[in-house]
Amino acid sequence: MQSIHHPLFAAVYERLSRAGGEWEEALRREVVGAAQGHVLEVGAGTGLNFAYYDPRRVEGVEAVEPDPAMLRYAQRRQGEAPVPLRLHQARVEELPFANETFDSALATLVFCSVEEPARGFAEIRRVLKPGGLLLLAEHVRAASPVTARLQDLLTPLTRRCAGNCHWNRATLTTLAGAGLRVISRRDEGGGLMPLVIVRAVKE
Ligand SMILES: C[S@@+](CC[C@H](N)C(=O)[O-])C[C@H]1O[C@@H](n2cnc3c(N)ncnc32)[C@H](O)[C@@H]1O
Repeated sequence: MQSIHHPLFAAVYERLSRAGGEWEEALRREVVGAAQGHVLEVGAGTGLNFAYYDPRRVEGVEAVEPDPAMLRYAQRRQGEAPVPLRLHQARVEELPFANETFDSALATLVFCSVEEPARGFAEIRRVLKPGGLLLLAEHVRAASPVTARLQDLLTPLTRRCAGNCHWNRATLTTLAGAGLRVISRRDEGGGLMPLVIVRAVKE
């Protein structure tokens, strides 16, 4: 596997995120606020989710991020977490944790960039306890064929300029084959950037 290192994208992401609006804050509050117990966060990026863990529900978080440039920003935000949070340099396809370790796993805007998403979901399934919850917020492939085709055309550019982001990725199709049962799904946004908020359980 190629190493993941996108310092320019990390710097731009960090700068743009400082202007993060109310919509983004509400989304993070909703998704992260549903995590409970011992939590795995994959693709933690610059650590924008850390402040939203609910100390009444969460014992602790293991946050993984493969890109050293992102990780540096995440380290600065580690102290914003109101729960114990440890950072690891790792990718979701090779999680450094034992089977059935976590009560919840969480990823926001990550699976568009993952090189082997099916393997990533298999790893999440492996480390979740039976009954464990996966919380996802991801932008996905558009339902309209015309819009999806536009996403296909944009994808070479987003892969190059936005940290390997596959704008056209059908993440929910991959999730459907991962042995995790979707218990809720909400669609937001639309057009070129449809967003899904999903909860799934390991049975
Ligand atoms: C758009 S950023 C989102 C960061 C953060 N989750 C957020 O909501 O702001 C995508 C992140 O996924 C990470 N990523 C890319 N490939 C990955 C992989 N194979 N495993 C885990 N994370 C990965 C990137 O390094 C980047 O930090």
